[in-house]
Amino acid sequence: MKVLITGAAGLVGNHLARRLASAHDVAALTHSDLDITDRDAVRRIVADLRPELVYNCAVLQVDECEQNPNKAESVNATGPRYLAEAAHRIGAEIVQFSTQYAFAGEPIGRDPYTLKDEPQPVNAYGRTKVAGERAVREACARSYIVRTSWVYGSSKNSFLCVVHDDLKAGRKVRAIDDIWSSTTYVEDLIDRCLEITRRKRCQRGSLHLLRIRS
Ligand SMILES: NC(=O)c1ccc[n+]([C@@H]2O[C@H](COP(=O)([O-])OP(=O)(O)OC[C@H]3O[C@@H](n4cnc5c(N)ncnc54)[C@H](OP(=O)(O)O)[C@@H]3O)[C@@H](O)[C@H]2O)c1
Repeated sequence: MKVLITGAAGLVGNHLARRLASAHDVAALTHSDLDITDRDAVRRIVADLRPELVYNCAVLQVDECEQNPNKAESVNATGPRYLAEAAHRIGAEIVQFSTQYAFAGEPIGRDPYTLKDEPQPVNAYGRTKVAGERAVREACARSYIVRTSWVYGSSKNSFLCVVHDDLKAGRKVRAIDDIWSSTTYVEDLIDRCLEITRRKRCQRGSLHLLRIRS
């Protein structure tokens, strides 16, 4: 299968590209290869490559979204719409990653959020990611929205990786203790994405992929 990955230098995009490369014809495009907010470039590249499946892994992260809400809207909502429109035009499927920040906060004292819960984002990152979900759903009938949470894995420093390294080196670990979250190992996230797109197992639409606390 021909697969296009955008934001391919990031945590999810990088791991996805490596996993898919052995079995598929993968175009893994980094930010410098394709800026998803450039509508003409998106149209041209999707029309030239003609992928059957697009994974959009490009994102503007939380802090930058607060500092620059216009850029957040552009990268997290408008860019995904351009990609979804281009995918739709050639009959391709698109996977758009989204986030636990679609919701108002940690579900303390209640069950974890489900797809029945209405999004209630409280920051620029969450608002623009929810807008991106909507834009992709509207622009491409063959779309999957995959919400995940606290993704970790090699190639990007995260709290979990730093703690692991510190403990191994016998260093004292410093941690915040007023926040909790479901964490998601990047390879597990990719396993589920591959399963979903391969077997069309879950109907197209939105999915929550993360590890629920046991
Ligand atoms: N990591 C998590 O904990 C987590 C949790 C929940 C959901 N997610 C979702 O998972 C997806 C992937 O996240 P990630 O953790 O892999 O992000 P990441 O490591 O920050 O990678 C994002 C990539 O997007 C690129 N990018 C930024 N603006 C772009 C643009 N305009 N056009 C093309 N590429 C652009 C960045 O390149 P530059 O750095 O060069 O700008 C970067 O390589 C996102 O949709 C995110 O919302 C992640």
